Amino acid sequence: MNKLLNTLFVLAVASVTAHAQAPAAPAKPAVASIESRVAMCVGCHGIPGYQSSFPEVHRVPMISGQNAKYIAAALNAYKTGERKHPTMRGIAETLSEQDIADISAYYEKHAGTTGGAKTVREPSPQVAALLQKAACASCHGADYSKPIDPSYPKIAGQHSDYLFVALKAYKASNSANNVGRNNGVMGAIAKQFTNAELKALSGYIGSLEGDLRTRPDPKFR
Ligand code: HEC
Ligand code: HEC
Repeated sequence: MNKLLNTLFVLAVASVTAHAQAPAAPAKPAVASIESRVAMCVGCHGIPGYQSSFPEVHRVPMISGQNAKYIAAALNAYKTGERKHPTMRGIAETLSEQDIADISAYYEKHAGTTGGAKTVREPSPQVAALLQKAACASCHGADYSKPIDPSYPKIAGQHSDYLFVALKAYKASNSANNVGRNNGVMGAIAKQFTNAELKALSGYIGSLEGDLRTRPDPKFR
């Protein structure tokens, strides 16, 4: 968070300075560069192994290589409060529609070449039965990396501790304590499983080969 606050402070100072030096403001405000708009994201999503402690310690999700339409849907869900995570809500509320479109397109391409065929490791019989029960592959794709709709997430290889937190958030849906995700589809699915089962699913899906990466922007390396 300190990094975020520092970034915001620097941006605020920079804009004050810019105004002082350029009293004849241009008629149309220029759109800030994509680098400056993702600068605050990099402080968490661009640091390999970076952990969040809310609502429990887990690695922040990998977003480089994720589907742009899903990233945009997720950011909008934080913005509207459908997803309650307080930090991401605060951040999404600062983003305009244009920012969300541009940032989502940026992150989809940010992992470089992805999307090749994946070898799917066989699940244990226990996990196979759980995957079967809710037909996870029917939406997220046979390799969990090619969902049937670009507004659905790639989940193969995502951090398993994050997948577990996300699945519990769907299960909590409208709970009052800032952890829920109110999503009709995944809510109904997550509620069919115990937390131990969600953990087993997360462990397996997180162990698969996927497209998702944590990539520090070259500028910030
Ligand atoms: C202070 C750390 C932090 C910063 C800064 C931050 N994020 Fe996040 N982000 C998180 C955490 C933690 C989560 C998981 C939230 C949850 O459990 O729903 C998350 C979740 C997300 C998700 C959902 C991922 C998924 O798979 O559903 C997206 C998309 C996202 N962030 C994009 C961004 C963008 C874009 C920025 C910059 C504009 C940003 N984040 C800045 C910590 C951060
Ligand atoms: C009917 C289609 C469908 C099925 C079946 C389905 N999902 Fe999903 N899943 C979705 C959609 C749509 C989302 C995005 C919801 C949102 O916007 O928050 C999602 C989101 C997720 C996420 C959050 C990913 C992230 O990055 O935050 C996880 C984890 C997940 N699903 C795992 C599973 C598992 C495990 C199963 C099987 C037990 C499953 N899904 C079955 C459609 C489906």
